[in-house]
Amino acid sequence: MTAKIVTPTPDVLARAADVLRIGGLVAIPTETVYGLACDAANPDAVAGLYEAKGRPRFNPLIAHVASQAMAEREAVFTPLARKAAEAFWPGPLTMVLPVAATGQTCDLARSGLDTIALRRPAHPVAQALLDAFGGPLVAPSANRSGHVSPTTPEHVRSDLADKVAYILDGGPCTRGIESTIVAFTGDTPVLLRAGALETAEIEAILGVTLARPGAASGITAPGQLKSHYAPRATLRLDAATPMSGEGYLGFGDHCPLEGNLSPTGNLTEAAANLFAMLRAFDLRYERIAVAPIPRTGLGEAINDRLARAAHRD
Ligand code: TXA
Ligand code: MG
Repeated sequence: MTAKIVTPTPDVLARAADVLRIGGLVAIPTETVYGLACDAANPDAVAGLYEAKGRPRFNPLIAHVASQAMAEREAVFTPLARKAAEAFWPGPLTMVLPVAATGQTCDLARSGLDTIALRRPAHPVAQALLDAFGGPLVAPSANRSGHVSPTTPEHVRSDLADKVAYILDGGPCTRGIESTIVAFTGDTPVLLRAGALETAEIEAILGVTLARPGAASGITAPGQLKSHYAPRATLRLDAATPMSGEGYLGFGDHCPLEGNLSPTGNLTEAAANLFAMLRAFDLRYERIAVAPIPRTGLGEAINDRLARAAHRD
């Protein structure tokens, strides 16, 4: 099987939904990164998905839903979680919630946990496929496990070409960085992964400060391994200037010839460019130096991904 990058016409979407119904895999665009989707209710399909990505089965998947009604069949919403859904869905927020008795998502997709991660994506192609399919779709980022997340259909093809029937073309992802994950499983919501939705925005709407994972919150993020999003090249972060032999990935005034995440110092633009530029630099350099990026706003998620990309076990 060789993956085809296809324009998601209504006809193609109907065929992609059929592929999902028989347990196949389809790569889909979302506003954050491309996802590798399969039927959340089909354990054989989910096993195939873990296999295709080379992902450990103890790392649970996000179930993507078409509507709030579908979300409420999968999970138990507290009033605070519902408020977050009203404010930020569809959009780049993933909520970890207690699983509902009516949930369709299989145990394997949740790695056997009694919680489920849910997201209602904003991308029209993801929404159209969810509507055509009619049930929840689990979709991790469509990269080989541990590799940089894909933000174009070509990235998906280079990682997973022979594993997937269709790659639905939705162009480059506008956000470019994965969703923010918040657990609503205790008294205080816990930030499990900084992401495309700024932490401060969530805190402002909910009127609470998000706790961080750890002993105090009693929750951990199973997939948040230190080394993740890893390019082949080594990374040196917060580099004001490059050293000889390094490719230099700039930001704002740190303005090299090779590439700049955002010449104007705009964090939204830098997030959208991050993974594509990391992949491009990885093909050209053994060593990459990255300019300092502020840790405010989206800089929190950008610096998180860079730290993981730089980490070597
Ligand atoms: O933007 C995104 O979130 C993309 C697009 C495709 O939606 N998806 C994505 O999926 O980034 P993935 O599989 O690469 O990351 C999912 C994260 C993992 O760190 C996993 O451990 C965590 O969500 N997760 C899933 N279920 C969980 C649960 N029940 N409790 C805690 N963490 C969970
Ligand atoms: Mg991922």
